[in-house]
Amino acid sequence: LKQRKHSSYIKELEGETDPGWGSCSLGVFICLACSGIHRNIPDISKVKSLSLSRWEDHEMQNGNELMKSKYEAAVPVYYYKPTHKDCQVLREQWIRAKYERKEFSEPGRNFTYEEGTRDGMLMKRGRDNGQFLSRRFVLLEREGTLKYFTKYDAKEPKAVIKVDSINATFQPEKIGNPNGLQITYLKDYSTRNMFVYHENGKEIVDWFNAIRAVQLHYLKVAFPGATDAELVPKLTRNFLKEGYMEKTGPRQTEGFKKRWFTLDHRRLMYLKDPLDAYAKGEVFLGSRDHGYNVSLGLPAGTHCNGAWQHGITIETPERLFLFTCEMESDQQEWVKHFNNVMNAPMSPQEYTMEAMFKHRP
Ligand SMILES: *[C@@H]1O[C@H](CO)[C@@H](O)[C@H](O)[C@H]1NC(C)=O
Ligand SMILES: *[C@@H]1O[C@H](CO)[C@@H](O)[C@H](O)[C@H]1NC(C)=O
Ligand SMILES: *[C@@H]1O[C@H](CO)[C@@H](O)[C@H](O)[C@H]1NC(C)=O
Repeated sequence: LKQRKHSSYIKELEGETDPGWGSCSLGVFICLACSGIHRNIPDISKVKSLSLSRWEDHEMQNGNELMKSKYEAAVPVYYYKPTHKDCQVLREQWIRAKYERKEFSEPGRNFTYEEGTRDGMLMKRGRDNGQFLSRRFVLLEREGTLKYFTKYDAKEPKAVIKVDSINATFQPEKIGNPNGLQITYLKDYSTRNMFVYHENGKEIVDWFNAIRAVQLHYLKVAFPGATDAELVPKLTRNFLKEGYMEKTGPRQTEGFKKRWFTLDHRRLMYLKDPLDAYAKGEVFLGSRDHGYNVSLGLPAGTHCNGAWQHGITIETPERLFLFTCEMESDQQEWVKHFNNVMNAPMSPQEYTMEAMFKHRP
């Protein structure tokens, strides 16, 4: 009822269903988690509970589209606007960038993440020992590369990554750091995972948006006629699903082993440990009309020696893949995603990818 009274208010983040709080100075509805972020910028935002606080009449009419359009007047197209599902650092930096630093209030500003180069230190997880160490990263728009160096003044980079093959995604829980960012890229046809963070939330979110800015630049070159609205979804994106399942080998005699699975559209990767640099294997998921299929359960007679009961069978033109999930809800969710991917027709690039998978050493 109270919410209906603030009829002119709008939601701060997309997808918010149960705001519960409002900022009467900004005229936006916010959720509990975001209300904490707003409270940290008291000069700009005055937070009140929708059910517990007393609201003056003028505070209820304050909200409007105008306020939002003032603070979001010039958001660069590649800048990632978080939804309510995103992690704290993304939501917090979006709110601070908008209201506290007023980064998007005037058109024509030069953004640090748009300067064409970015050079700085990030904590990077060692591939072999799992230790996080400070490493220098350099992003160069001119070359379309992200490089990292093991020593600050090293001449040769340890790795040179083509920005157009990068997918960057925030993974605070998996990495065990609130600012943890996973960067994946293709190396010799395999997906390489890199895990980084910066103590400062603004720094890591600026790196994330700087990578997106360079990616947009390259997409514009690759697709000259495309509109921004067509290109933005091609920027780094989140994985469809991640989690543990058990799997068995091709002869189905090895026994079921617990693995971490990541579904990146048509690539289903499995790793021994969620933070491994390389997947142990990858399965390409093509479309149903090209011999791919998924079903619930395992083939009759499968010797199921694993601990988990909820089976999934994936059929590819080459072989069957058998998986088991701990819980039925996991099984249902994986199968839903596999079905969605297999029901979609394959693009020309995906045929190339399928051929690459078949001819991989
Ligand atoms: C932004 O950068 C461009 C090119 O470097 C420069 O010409 C312009 O004056 C800058 N604008 C502002 C507001 O600093
Ligand atoms: C990153 O995402 C693109 C689509 O945006 C996809 O084609 C590519 O395979 C992904 N790369 C990696 C290394 O995950
Ligand atoms: C795909 O799997 C479903 C479920 O097991 C089965 O009913 C269907 O016949 C299969 N389709 C093909 C083409 O094998």
